Amino acid sequence: AGARIAFVGEGPGYYEDQQGSPFVGKAGQLLDKMIAAMGLSEGDYYICNVVKCRPPENRTPRADEAIACKKWLQEQLDIVKPEFIVALGKCATEHLGCLNPDVRRWRGVWGEWAGIPVMPTYHPAFLLRSPQFKRPAWEDLQAIMSRMAANGDAER
Ligand code: URA
Repeated sequence: AGARIAFVGEGPGYYEDQQGSPFVGKAGQLLDKMIAAMGLSEGDYYICNVVKCRPPENRTPRADEAIACKKWLQEQLDIVKPEFIVALGKCATEHLGCLNPDVRRWRGVWGEWAGIPVMPTYHPAFLLRSPQFKRPAWEDLQAIMSRMAANGDAER
């Protein structure tokens, strides 16, 4: 496998568009901190987005845009073959087909994409605006870490 965990965001923002890499702006700096706190090192994780082009005014990608980019996302995940996927925010959660029908509980509930366990959690850009939700987000990440520890090296 290319990486144990794949983080899936929404789409490129201004800086991501400039640099051609996902999560290099402010939200990316927080994501890097979250990843470091999980004890992951380079090579353990992969970062990508639902859509590959920057939506105008940083709006959430429309369904048709997400669908147009789905084959790329699918190809990325097929190559990386992660043990776990972290869906960052509702957009990724929805487009990975893991949105819990109970709208009050969309995060922290395990889902599945192509047989790979998916943990939906808050988007780091949201956490920058609403830091009081960092604690539940951390619980979601810890749930992944304990499941990953249980897997051990078995799936490597
Ligand atoms: N937000 C996202 O969803 N993706 C990025 O790459 C950057 C910010």
